[in-house]
Amino acid sequence: MLAVRLGIWYIWGMKLWNVDRIRGLKGCGRLPCVTAYDFVSARLADEAGFPLLLAGDSLGTTVLGYASTIPVTLDVMLHHTAAVARGTRDALVVADMPFLSYQVSVAEGIRNAGRLLQEAGADAVKIEGGAFRSELVSALTLNGIPVLGHIGLTPQSVNQLGGYKVQGRTQAAAEQLVADARALEAAGAFALVLECVPPDLGEAVTAAVQIPVVGIGAGPGCDGQILVAHDLLGLSLAPPPKFVKPYAALADAVRVALGAYKMDVEAGRFPGPDQCYAQGTAEHPISNREHPISK
Ligand code: KIV
Repeated sequence: MLAVRLGIWYIWGMKLWNVDRIRGLKGCGRLPCVTAYDFVSARLADEAGFPLLLAGDSLGTTVLGYASTIPVTLDVMLHHTAAVARGTRDALVVADMPFLSYQVSVAEGIRNAGRLLQEAGADAVKIEGGAFRSELVSALTLNGIPVLGHIGLTPQSVNQLGGYKVQGRTQAAAEQLVADARALEAAGAFALVLECVPPDLGEAVTAAVQIPVVGIGAGPGCDGQILVAHDLLGLSLAPPPKFVKPYAALADAVRVALGAYKMDVEAGRFPGPDQCYAQGTAEHPISNREHPISK
């Protein structure tokens, strides 16, 4: 029975992973996280057992061809997050709040975050920025919208930071990051992303708070790790950052497959007999693929 495989959470129509369970992992094990931008990648990551999927605004660079995440709009995030939510059964789906969707005022931030939950089916939102975001984080969590903080290298501030640079390299900057982490925890964030800092600082920030710290380029001392799926799968066209370990070379595999198909068409090898319908038989439907959503 489905409920037996999936556990008691499904009896109540709830997911396996929620913010309480994620928070509870602090000090009890490592939290693997990954980005997903569409139905298929979400379903595959969910089946692989990731507790947290991030519908990241990195989709601006990885799949939409922008030079940064700045052009990504709320409408784009709503569209992609909804696809991720449809593909996810067990994982917590976190939607990135894109540039300008939360910076203008707390009221706008609440409305836009609420849309990501209400219209797109996200379970939580991610917001870039440190202690100065405390008021917003507190307002969101008090209104029932869980928040994943994001400190260190915050890509939406790339123009202010002067590029994608390692953060927290001076004593003052490192202390500020620890203070930021504590402030976001106090404001109610259920976990933090810490991006691109030296490993010692990753460890110090992790030790400074009681909520999980998920590192990306922040060394092995964090409570969890997150990577952009396209980077770890070798599907990004730009060379990935130093902190990425490639687990596959999918871009190469796609190039080979597309080249083989193209050559088959040019040489008249495709379609072959196996890809043709027989005359005079009732073969219905034309595709025997189940619609993935109807499973
Ligand atoms: O947008 C994103 O994918 C992110 C992760 C890299 C943390 O913010």
